[in-house]
Amino acid sequence: MTKADLAINGGAKAIPRPCSARYATDGREKAALNALIDRAIETGNNVGYNGPEEEALCREFSALLGGGYTDGVNGGTNAVYVALRALNPEPFSEVIVGAITDPGGIMPILMCNCIPAVADVEKGSYNTSAEEIAKLITPLTAAIIVPHIAGEPADMREIMKLANEKGIPVIEDCAQSHLAKLDGRPVGTWGAFGAFSTMFGKHFCTGGQGGLVYTKDQDMYWKVRQAADRGKPFGLPEGSTNCIASLNCNLQEFGAAIGRVQLRKLPRFGEDRRKVAAKLAAGFADIPSVMIPKLVDGAESVYWFWRLGVNLEGLSCTKDEYVKALAAEGANVSLNYKAALPSTFDWFKNRRAFGTHGFPWTSPEYKGTMNRDFPIPNAIEVTDTQYNLYINESWTDEDIAYTLAAYKKVDEAFRA
Ligand SMILES: Cc1ncc(COP(=O)(O)O)c(C=O)c1O
Repeated sequence: MTKADLAINGGAKAIPRPCSARYATDGREKAALNALIDRAIETGNNVGYNGPEEEALCREFSALLGGGYTDGVNGGTNAVYVALRALNPEPFSEVIVGAITDPGGIMPILMCNCIPAVADVEKGSYNTSAEEIAKLITPLTAAIIVPHIAGEPADMREIMKLANEKGIPVIEDCAQSHLAKLDGRPVGTWGAFGAFSTMFGKHFCTGGQGGLVYTKDQDMYWKVRQAADRGKPFGLPEGSTNCIASLNCNLQEFGAAIGRVQLRKLPRFGEDRRKVAAKLAAGFADIPSVMIPKLVDGAESVYWFWRLGVNLEGLSCTKDEYVKALAAEGANVSLNYKAALPSTFDWFKNRRAFGTHGFPWTSPEYKGTMNRDFPIPNAIEVTDTQYNLYINESWTDEDIAYTLAAYKKVDEAFRA
């Protein structure tokens, strides 16, 4: 195999067809939606929200996490927003968040008039750590948001030890990590809240968009309900009026009905992704350029994607050339995860969240440092040196064999 054989140089692709789609939706979702429509036709009442489907979905989801309370919302971004809003942090307090996250994992901080403090990730990982979070804690810290990226749990043992010592509530952003576990315990159950995205690309979905907020604390559950629905006085004595300013983040019954069907498939989705990853890992053992980063001890990933590194020793290419060559062979890879570094984006660097005045950083009521720098060398390094391979639970042995063939071809072609 030579460089001339590579698809990027005009050779035939190692993967001649796209790898299998998920096929996560089937007739059961269709039947659930049809049942709702049939009921609407029969009764003459439109399908709504906060109804029996959502109630059942929330009960079933809570049970899957070992008990507690769940509220359905209309997005993963809004799940984080609602969890933070439920804490009702004082405006101009600081909220710590891991450096690698979707923009939806940081925007809610601004929407609560708080200041984001960006914690670097642990070296070689996409997830943050207690050590990095500890560097940012100040008297202004109101909450910590811990994203579990790529289906991999962050080390919640250490993070909760720190947070409990300091008395700071933790929101676990589980948008990418449904049913991922640490020491056998699901993510989302370690902190005060688990915020889940259930948009269509996630492990289980409630339609195109959606989310769930989980908590073990009944009082917090009522605050979640209030925050998710314009401050309505859920859980408050009769006669109470709307109690806080918040948005309408309600899930629809249609989404909940889809979610209930999908939830039954969720454990299998994680198991099957782990099987696919294990088969790939067995093949990668014979391909020296593939570097598989370690998970934290006791972690069980659900592989929303798989982050991988490149062992460049003996190769006549850069990491980017290697990944581009894989992509040209038809592999499901993306070059890096720089799109998940929100503190490197213009709005953050230029303090332009709202209008042109630099609010909330510039407010005289903010007692921290407006232009405080948040160096994230580990996040920059890991997104320079690692990349993402997208797998799913429906991959066949043929998909795995094709993918391994692509890796083998690229490895051999670049080996001097
Ligand atoms: C870590 C993280 N947080 C928040 C979100 C936002 O979720 P949604 O797209 O459902 O609003 C995402 C979306 O992928 C995410 O990956």
